[in-house]
Amino acid sequence: MCGIVGAVAERNVVQILLEGLRRLEYRGYDSAGVALLNNGELSITRRVGKVKALSDALDDESSLGTTGIAHTRWATHGGVTEVNAHPHTSSERFALVHNGIIENHKALRDALSDKDYAFVSDTDTETIAHTIAEARKHCDTLLESVLQSVKSFHGAYGTVIIDKEDPNTMVVARSGSPLVIGLGIGENFIASDQMALLPVTRRFIFLEEGDVAEITRTTVKIIDASGEKVEREVVESSVEHDAGDKAGYRHYMLKEIYEQPAVIRNTLQGRVTPDGISDDVFGEGSDEVFAKVENIKIIACGTSYHAGMTAKYWLEAYAGVCCDVEIASEFRYRKSVVKPNSLIVTISQSGETADTLAALKLAKESGYMSSLAICNVDGSSLVRESSLSFMTRAGAEIGVASTKAFTTQLAGFLMLVLAIGKHKGMSDTLKSSILQSLAELPSKLEETLTLADDIDDLAEEFSDKHHSLFLGRGDQYPIAMEGALKLKEISYIHAEAYASGELKHGPLALIDAEMPVIVVAPNNELLEKLKSNVEEVRARGGIMYVFADKDAHFKSDETMRVLDVPHCSEAIAPIVYTIPLQLLSYYVALIKGTDVDQPRNLAKSVTVE
Ligand code: AGP
Repeated sequence: MCGIVGAVAERNVVQILLEGLRRLEYRGYDSAGVALLNNGELSITRRVGKVKALSDALDDESSLGTTGIAHTRWATHGGVTEVNAHPHTSSERFALVHNGIIENHKALRDALSDKDYAFVSDTDTETIAHTIAEARKHCDTLLESVLQSVKSFHGAYGTVIIDKEDPNTMVVARSGSPLVIGLGIGENFIASDQMALLPVTRRFIFLEEGDVAEITRTTVKIIDASGEKVEREVVESSVEHDAGDKAGYRHYMLKEIYEQPAVIRNTLQGRVTPDGISDDVFGEGSDEVFAKVENIKIIACGTSYHAGMTAKYWLEAYAGVCCDVEIASEFRYRKSVVKPNSLIVTISQSGETADTLAALKLAKESGYMSSLAICNVDGSSLVRESSLSFMTRAGAEIGVASTKAFTTQLAGFLMLVLAIGKHKGMSDTLKSSILQSLAELPSKLEETLTLADDIDDLAEEFSDKHHSLFLGRGDQYPIAMEGALKLKEISYIHAEAYASGELKHGPLALIDAEMPVIVVAPNNELLEKLKSNVEEVRARGGIMYVFADKDAHFKSDETMRVLDVPHCSEAIAPIVYTIPLQLLSYYVALIKGTDVDQPRNLAKSVTVE
């Protein structure tokens, strides 16, 4: 989704801004633009399409600026056009970039039109630029103008404005859309994600909700939501500088699929001991919360929601705690009942998903006894807004299709099961078996990745298909859902997932030779039931692709192609069986020639509703 980079320096900042935008490309966007201030002149360059088109347009020595702001736009209000791309301007003096949505933009537009502001775009963003320009007429500084203007904005914004009459200053405001200040020496920066600034600094200030800040080359002044001047902590980033590098892989997604054994090792390291889970892995005081918890509500979106769905099976079966899972965008707009001693658990790769954040806010107001965030981005809004947190150590995930974030979330949930199970009478046998399974997990994943060539061959058979069905039972049902999401996301083939016991209640009507059916079949207590479902598909002329444990005794024939998945214990089977489904969607997408890392219409981090 939209990305912001800004800089105020003595040197030319054009390449810093462009590199920042490139590093945010993975988030998904449809146009890009830059505003530069140089010797009292304001210049704007915008292009529809990739950052490359923008950098080509700026690729001559006359593109200079010591202060500049840049943006990648993912259209919400107004089509994908150069005129709607950011930066937007006002009064031939101010330039502004914005992430988020101003919900009352129509009312603001009407009021500003009455004051003779001419709108050139269809965006909500242009109303911010004109509102601040209007405020500047009677405020002494740009900072004061922004502080006054934000009072009239309803909705979400991370915004940065520059003024050609005050060329060494950027003013930024955050509400519902993240912004991070990067601190340099004699120069300072702003971005919507620290990734954008890693080539120039590792020292960051994460702005809080409601903060407005004035940034010059040498100073940072932050005013909080209550209007007080505040000092915020300076954080040294631990994110790898080259996290945005494909390391020789053709796509980030493939690199991230192959990183899974290593990042899961990392996620487990120092947290799992032969006796269980180390104290406070889930945050200070988590043990007391887990001792009291009777009910868990998990909230998330997309792939993270599928991790929550899987965790429900584990938490109820292994830890004996009642668990509900809900899509954040549903939860946030319905009236729900909070069960006694309930813990709210949110899951998010980015920690900035608008629906998940809104759901957490609602839950905190509704009487949950505590909140836990399972997240991949330290310092993200979700982590900061939650009482407890668990950081997955997946490293930066660049591919829009989530892979390693999902499997590390699942590893985190198995640890949560152990941490809670300890208070709920989990047997030593079960505890040892889960611990043993976790210890084996990285090597099982390495073994499973060796299926890649076979899956690459198999993918050929999907290239002319338009629909597909994924089947699983028990804790493999959410894995089938995740497999279907991956396939539709990056290959654009319609894919649906069903708990295979549901087949006869409707979807069997869809079965024919044109509808490949993908089945995940570990050797567990539901295997015989699953085999009956497979026969139901076969009897209707369906063609199946079965990822199965060798001991499940499926045999390839003219209606079924079987791929042997390494034998693994039941607890980690959902994680292991995720791998072939990720590889399948990747190789199908390659054949279809889609943009694997940045599939059409999608954004990495969905920071607007
Ligand atoms: C996954 O492949 C998707 N890109 C998407 O469903 C994603 O999982 C969802 O938007 C939630 O994101 P989050 O984990 O950052 O909250």
